[in-house]
Amino acid sequence: MSRIASVFLICVLAAAGLSAQAIQYSESSKTWLLNTHNSSYAMGVGPNGTLQNLYWGAPLWRVDDLPAATMRREFSSFDPPNMEQRDEFPAWGGTRYFEPALKVTREGGNRDVVLRYQSHQIKENNLDITLKDIRDDIQVVLHYRVYPDHGIVERSATVQNKTPKPLMLESAQSATWNLPVGETYQLTYLSGRWAAETQINHEAIHQGMKVLESRKGLTGHDINPWFAIDAGDATEEGGGVWFGALAWSGNWRITVEQTPAQQVRVTGGLNPFDFAYPLKPGESLETPAFYAGYSDQGFGAASRSLHRFEREQIAPGGASARLRPVLFNSWEATQFNVNEANQKEFATAAAKLGVELFVMDDGWHGTRTNERSGLGDWDVNRQRFPSGLKGLIDHVNGLGMDFGLWVEPEAVNADSDLYRKHPDWVIHFADRPQSELRTQMVLNLARKDVQEYVFGVMDKLATENHIKYFKWDMNRPFSEPGWEEEPPGDQRKLWVEYVRNLYGIIDRLRARHPGLEIESCSGGGGRVDLGILRRADEIWTSDNTEAFDRLRIQEGFTQAYAPKFMSAWVTDVPNSLMNRRATPLQYRFLVAMQGALGIGANLTKWPADDMTAAAKMVALYKRIRPTVQLGDLYRLHSPRTGDIAANQYVAADGKQSVLFVFRRAQEYRAPAPPVRLRGLDGRALYRLESIDGKLIERQPQLSGAYLMRVGLNLNLRNDFDSTAVILEKLTQ
Ligand code: GLA
Repeated sequence: MSRIASVFLICVLAAAGLSAQAIQYSESSKTWLLNTHNSSYAMGVGPNGTLQNLYWGAPLWRVDDLPAATMRREFSSFDPPNMEQRDEFPAWGGTRYFEPALKVTREGGNRDVVLRYQSHQIKENNLDITLKDIRDDIQVVLHYRVYPDHGIVERSATVQNKTPKPLMLESAQSATWNLPVGETYQLTYLSGRWAAETQINHEAIHQGMKVLESRKGLTGHDINPWFAIDAGDATEEGGGVWFGALAWSGNWRITVEQTPAQQVRVTGGLNPFDFAYPLKPGESLETPAFYAGYSDQGFGAASRSLHRFEREQIAPGGASARLRPVLFNSWEATQFNVNEANQKEFATAAAKLGVELFVMDDGWHGTRTNERSGLGDWDVNRQRFPSGLKGLIDHVNGLGMDFGLWVEPEAVNADSDLYRKHPDWVIHFADRPQSELRTQMVLNLARKDVQEYVFGVMDKLATENHIKYFKWDMNRPFSEPGWEEEPPGDQRKLWVEYVRNLYGIIDRLRARHPGLEIESCSGGGGRVDLGILRRADEIWTSDNTEAFDRLRIQEGFTQAYAPKFMSAWVTDVPNSLMNRRATPLQYRFLVAMQGALGIGANLTKWPADDMTAAAKMVALYKRIRPTVQLGDLYRLHSPRTGDIAANQYVAADGKQSVLFVFRRAQEYRAPAPPVRLRGLDGRALYRLESIDGKLIERQPQLSGAYLMRVGLNLNLRNDFDSTAVILEKLTQ
């Protein structure tokens, strides 16, 4: 059902006096129905007190329609009733042989926990359900929050030790999501590695378990904490898709498990690998938020729900956050060789192109002239910047641009004053060798003193300089995760405390410096998730800026994350860091203009013609920016499936739409196929504007119906050809 249709349904129901509240509860059947504009989610308490999922899918509106949760029968002594029960939050105990959402060891070794419904509380769109162990005062509060307009349900759990004895948590998940029984399913997920992030995979779900996870301390480039499941028949534009994203930037895990009874469950939260979290009497642990939704309009609509949700509910500033500015970044132009003179030159050139935010990357501080030293020392390098940062910042501001600065506050080189002074501050096991990656180690942010130091460094930089934006980088995973100061059994808390403290530092920094913006970067897209997006305005998508490779990375990124946050730079060709491929300037611009546009090239070497063309592209981007950053994305042709890739953006008010089309190679003089548009008003007329004359249609106006059913023919003849068409809806 489209959003408009569901809003209509809700209005009709309201007019008929039927309730379509976000949370409905039936006391007689002890069931809850959570409603969004395009989905519903229901659970109920069974006769034995277990909390069971009853439904997840297209909208329902009447809680009383739902049957009360029941007990299952024993199928065989090897298939106990619990195996078929759709537990909302299964603890490990009794006869449960599937992935638990909670596993606890008591002092003395007892590890059996069986949770039963205790009580619940509804406050507006929030529902808390408290479960308790059948014997002990081990309590779990399941938090549900419904976002009716966004089609999202948020879940997390607080595990409370109300017993008089210490407990050790060995698994603490955010949620278990049960899929409807009776379908065969397909899983879609994003995988890759450094410079090849967010590649899309589809695979059939069979009996057994698929594990998506990070054990690196960071979200990771390898697999992203997002999933989508369909019955194998969903497309970009049609079919049921259940999807979810976990908000955690440390060791996370999502398991997709099909039981012998053909039940598919998705369980996600803190990775139980090397996990142990002690809870003293009275202590509790809250697990990260796990967001999920359902769309009956395919992967495209699922993405659009998430995009809008991220823009309006997750990212700093919400719906009132500013549009992302066009930025320049120095990294690919000079690598570590930054100095006041070359940065000023770049700034002057960037300003001529219409750049709004000038970001100086690595190499400005301590003895950091290469990757082997200086990380950890955050004083400006006075040889390179004789007047400190002020000279450069004044120059940048004088040109009308904001100033941004690269930092990597969580890591340290052995060759740094910080490490010489505090060798014990890095994550390590005593008397064991310490691995270095990119010749650096990780500071133990779980420690209070390290946390304060890192906050202090960042606060000082932001206080003493007119800095609008930090590109916050983190260039290596954790290793040897020891934490000597903690008692031996407690050291594994590090995985959780680190991430919480990282979040805490950024939150404090933002509170102390209103208006300060953060880009989340981890060697490219190593820290992309909804947890960091709560405190980051922009995300560095990948260190791979080569435009053709980028098409696929960006296609995967936008499955889960909004184009507004997808930082994308135009860089020099042949691409020196990746593959020596040389795509035309227009192609590079159009690829980058599909997200938050940046320029990461050596502008001082650009010929005048390129500068003129680039200035025009930046001006064009500013014209279409609200549509790209705040509009609806329709992925029309996947770069994975043919030599044409096309994406279309439709403005929130429907008045503007922009089509981007890319061709890899023309073969045998075959013309490019027509590109059929989506998301337009079929009855409206649209004025067409080709950015480069490659639109074959000569009519200046076409109807939405024609554009969506017949499509546009584009004259794309060359290798790495590209074009864009802007459509303006005409008022009738
Ligand atoms: C990481 C980032 C790059 C750049 C370098 C600097 O690799 O992803 O964009 O900032 O670090 O060392």
